[in-house]
Amino acid sequence: MDDQFRLDNTVAVVTGASGNLGPIWVGALLDAGARVFALDLERAVVSPGLDALLERYAQPTSSTPGPRLRLHRADVMDKESLVAAQAACAESMGVATVLVNNAGIDQPASTDGATSYRMEDVPMAASRAILEVNTLGTFQVSQVFGAEMVKARRGSIINIGSLYASVSPDLRLYAHMNLDPPFLKPPAYGASKAAVVNLTRYLATAWGPYGVRVNTLSPGGVLGAQDPEFQRQFNDRVPLGRMAEANDLTGPLRFLASEASAYITGSELRVDGGFTAW
Ligand SMILES: NC(=O)c1ccc[n+]([C@@H]2O[C@H](COP(=O)([O-])OP(=O)(O)OC[C@H]3O[C@@H](n4cnc5c(N)ncnc54)[C@H](O)[C@@H]3O)[C@@H](O)[C@H]2O)c1
Repeated sequence: MDDQFRLDNTVAVVTGASGNLGPIWVGALLDAGARVFALDLERAVVSPGLDALLERYAQPTSSTPGPRLRLHRADVMDKESLVAAQAACAESMGVATVLVNNAGIDQPASTDGATSYRMEDVPMAASRAILEVNTLGTFQVSQVFGAEMVKARRGSIINIGSLYASVSPDLRLYAHMNLDPPFLKPPAYGASKAAVVNLTRYLATAWGPYGVRVNTLSPGGVLGAQDPEFQRQFNDRVPLGRMAEANDLTGPLRFLASEASAYITGSELRVDGGFTAW
């Protein structure tokens, strides 16, 4: 049964590979045997998590002819850079048949007031950037890499959604910050992720006949640098009583990427400890 989850002889692309979650997806795919072509912006600093993986997997070994992990620079909003990335991936590793659309823009809570707004003052430019990168970026990367999967007649695209694709953020979780105006989780964020869930359905129906599956993986809040009071209140709202950790995400990703989910397409897998169940 375990073989169904293996990704040997598979090339996978992960966008936004240098952020918080990027190295979790990259590590999960490498562990399952895949070769990974990681993408991020030219200006993105290589995170410690990705750096550790590059250290371990970016050199060829006696058993692998080329490196199992490469980092390539591309912008999900720049089609030319994506076409070049696809060509570089095909040339150096082979045609990718797994794509994790992870690149995204969110706005973590901060106490400096720079992201505190009355609803009527939320700037259009910030909202537009979120909608463009999260939704249209996901579409554009899928166009470029998905078209090659259609030609190959197989593939699995995993779009990273969010719990906020399904429910509104609970603004009371930020009340303890005592900011006036308050910190507002960007209204465009959940809208962009809800759009990703439906874009997933569209691509799944269009590409199903060609053997290409498209699903959304929607994480809940992932444990990071959130302040302790936020964590306490957030945990209270989660039926499983805690935020997500890396290990909670790797199995679901491998499931959707591999033959273990061969008959699943157009779905949203919520990995949120039950947050959206009530
Ligand atoms: N961290 C969480 O708790 C959480 C929860 C639910 C969903 N998500 C989703 O998971 C994904 C990753 O989140 P994260 O916490 O790692 O965010 P992050 O900000 O740490 O990383 C995002 C990455 O995307 C890259 N990126 C941004 N714009 C890009 C562009 N135009 N082209 C290419 N790359 C670009 C950034 O450089 C960065 O490396 C996002 O889609 C996010 O919405 C995160």
